[in-house]
Amino acid sequence: MPRAGRKVFVRTFGCQMNVYDSERMTEALQADGYSETSAIEDADLVILNTCHIREKAAEKVYSDLGRIRVLKEERAAAGSDTVVAVVGCVAQAEGAEISRRAPVVDLVVGPQSYHRLPQLIRRSRAEGRSLVETDFPEEEKFAHLPARAPTRNVTAFLTVQEGCDKFCTFCVVPYTRGMEYSRSVADIEREARSLVDAGVRELTLLGQNVNGYHGDGPGGRTYSLADLVRHLARIDGLERLRYTTSHPRGMSDDLIAAHGDEPKLMPYLHLPFQAGSDRILAAMNRKHTAQEYINLVARIRAAQPDLALSTDVIVGFPGETDAEFEETLAVFDEIGFAAAFSFKYSARPGTPAEKLDGQVPEAVKTERLARLQARIEKHQWDFAARCVGRTLPVLFERPGRHPGQLIGRSPFLQGVHAEAPQELLGRIVPVEISSFGTNSLAGVIRPE
Ligand code: 5AD
Ligand code: SF4
Repeated sequence: MPRAGRKVFVRTFGCQMNVYDSERMTEALQADGYSETSAIEDADLVILNTCHIREKAAEKVYSDLGRIRVLKEERAAAGSDTVVAVVGCVAQAEGAEISRRAPVVDLVVGPQSYHRLPQLIRRSRAEGRSLVETDFPEEEKFAHLPARAPTRNVTAFLTVQEGCDKFCTFCVVPYTRGMEYSRSVADIEREARSLVDAGVRELTLLGQNVNGYHGDGPGGRTYSLADLVRHLARIDGLERLRYTTSHPRGMSDDLIAAHGDEPKLMPYLHLPFQAGSDRILAAMNRKHTAQEYINLVARIRAAQPDLALSTDVIVGFPGETDAEFEETLAVFDEIGFAAAFSFKYSARPGTPAEKLDGQVPEAVKTERLARLQARIEKHQWDFAARCVGRTLPVLFERPGRHPGQLIGRSPFLQGVHAEAPQELLGRIVPVEISSFGTNSLAGVIRPE
């Protein structure tokens, strides 16, 4: 039964997959009569969609819950009930511990069960107690979610794969998101078409291990990620495709070839390498060496020389010496990444690395991270500088801060500002890049 007038506030932590999940659960709640609000104090339902990847991300949830407790009490004093739900990866990892530590929480729901939110909210209210739902249900959540709601966005995320069986020794994902699961091609295509019909021009296919995708395709054949990309590229009106996040071991020949010959596949690749030392890579269970990573990048660049590469790196994995950290810097200089995300190693409960000897002191991690980030910035700067003077096709996404300005994305995922009329929103337009800052480029529209 729809409950008219109820409002939901959602705060999202963590990766793009959580952004996608938040959109889908909001749509499920809208179908149940909720409307979305960006004012937490007006919300009858507050959802924190959480991330467990590093300790800091997980702890943010508890500091938020402290503030939400005060809010809930104030609303109760004014006669309004508030339901508080913790969903996502902290919910999966910590379960009932969350409502023990923060009794303000009414619902704890894992990433595979959020399609059940409307029914769980009703049950929790009826039974007057908090509920925990962290099973991996047999039923598939995608089959139980409503169709995509209309969007005004030009770009969208689309989850095609979830979970990970790679078991890197630092990582909680196999425990929070479970084993690898790929959606069927038909299911993905249906969702892609509905997004494109609504005006979406660029899709980013998401998966924790997206290049491990192996879904049921037409004619009973199993499709690889390359097959899926080529299949979706045939959708009229869809102009650009990206995918993230990939494991180096999953960069198959057919996917590398697609980077060379599928024009809709953007020349941008996020390929985490995590560390430059072979000893650390082995302790991380990455199953490749630094040289193998470098050789792989050379093969991908042979197929697509004009490529922006980005990566993830961890500093201070247990046992990492100064010399081993230097090897990480050396890989950076050898490859020249266009962008990178860098993290201090954070020991996560239940992972094998948590129990390793040689945990690196915080001060050492801080110092290494600062050195690494200076190197990352230099390479990012070099990459952006090389774009000046080039004319790049820019997909305009939204109005800029100044009147008459639009912001779009280059093929390399950089933000680009230009003076441009509103009618160009949703269009791909050639822009000559004239300058760059730390986070974006600026340019002038050129006639086609
Ligand atoms: N500590 C620090 N960084 C981590 N990552 C994953 N687990 C940890 C951890 N325990 C980083 C990896 C991964 C990115 C999403 O987060 O670099 O690729
Ligand atoms: Fe964080 Fe991983 Fe969960 Fe994404 S999948 S929210 S990165 S723990």
